[in-house]
Amino acid sequence: MANFLVQTSPPLRGETIIHPAKNAVLPILAATLLTNEPFTIPNVPHLTDVTTLCELLEACGSIISWENGGMRLCAQNLCLPQNDDPMRRMRASVLILGPLLARLGAARITLPGGCAIGQRPIDQHIKGMQAMGAEVSQRQGHIELTGKLHGASIYLDIPSVGATENILLAAVLATGMTRIENAAKEPEVVDLTQCLNSMGARISGAGTSTLIIQGVSKLHGIRYQPIPDRIEAGTLACATAIAGGNVLLRGARSEHIRALLFKLQETGVIVIEQRDGLRVRGKALQPTTIRTMSFPGFPTDLQAPMMAVACFTPGTSIFMETVFENRYMHAIELRRMGAHIRVEDRVALIDGGVELQGTHVACSDLRAGAALLLAALGAQGPTHVEDPQGHIDRGYVTIENTLGELGVPIQRVNP
Ligand code: EPZ
Repeated sequence: MANFLVQTSPPLRGETIIHPAKNAVLPILAATLLTNEPFTIPNVPHLTDVTTLCELLEACGSIISWENGGMRLCAQNLCLPQNDDPMRRMRASVLILGPLLARLGAARITLPGGCAIGQRPIDQHIKGMQAMGAEVSQRQGHIELTGKLHGASIYLDIPSVGATENILLAAVLATGMTRIENAAKEPEVVDLTQCLNSMGARISGAGTSTLIIQGVSKLHGIRYQPIPDRIEAGTLACATAIAGGNVLLRGARSEHIRALLFKLQETGVIVIEQRDGLRVRGKALQPTTIRTMSFPGFPTDLQAPMMAVACFTPGTSIFMETVFENRYMHAIELRRMGAHIRVEDRVALIDGGVELQGTHVACSDLRAGAALLLAALGAQGPTHVEDPQGHIDRGYVTIENTLGELGVPIQRVNP
């Protein structure tokens, strides 16, 4: 629950430390259910998605303690979730399916809802579990799976990030070998694979579209630090492309967002890869063409922030959103600020370079909310970004502090 008041921003200056990645931390938290030994994550981002998943892990019997910015988790006595509420609040809850099946031979979740950006079915997750021997039934809005898992050959119709992660989480303790074809190659999937191998799993092919998992009998508790958040880094790079300036995104890994960096360079932004992070300089001046794809293509989570950039570059930018079927909700609100955006199914045309005016705008989803904050940096006059459902806090750690330390005149205005 939050509203933000953003004034027109001067060029950004200074540096900020990129937080650990939400989309790496969530599957790694699910992986802690795979062992009865203590698991430590030294630096955890304080995000509502993280606290929601921790509520669910506690409902499964995990004992969790926070200590100096980190977290210690121990799932010694694992059980099926006794409380549905956290599952209803977050789609990523589906990631407990694999670990519960792997350790208990049973799993039960509420059917995850869709969200603003699309239907987001879980058929590929279920297909993988069934291939490994799970019996699936659906009752009163819940999906129940039972069975002792064995290795299988699984072909994903879509290189789904979540399905790849869920199947990995199930296969590491299955009997025999599992092969996943057309697996997702996102850095967060690679990070999960490295975490699981550190726990004693035997996974090969990380970062390729074919993963081979040799099941083992037990996994150990470890201390593991997830990768930095490439979407936070990309969002801040887009903020600089709008307001101009010179910032250091400390800890950002350029190899995780190379598609975005190439596209920003096409618009005229200067990007310098440094040992300690990523330096971004100057404004976007030229339009560009964006086609979202699974990794290493342009990340769909940066499509909305990049559309905010395109509003300020004279000329027509062309966007194609190929991953989610309804991920242009932010265009409606950007138009209220004066943007000239035409949307036709998966294609959006942005006629940039017109002046945007600050006004009241509303967040429909996490990355749309980020895009509205970014557009406000370049708009004339104050912008009220209304986020009554707290979308932005799900994926960005106190974004007003992060943008504020770079010189953005932003404040959180609780309703
Ligand atoms: C992950 O979602 C991310 N979330 C998303 O980030 C990200 O946008 C997405 O991957 C794509 O990169 C987390 O990691 C927690 P998918 P996920 O399964 O796993 C369809 C953010 O803003 N599909 O790769 O749910 C699906 O509908 C969030 O941080 C099926 O049809 O994404 C979509 O069109 C948003 N059946 C496409 O595949 C399935 O069983 C890609 O989805 C699974 C997915």
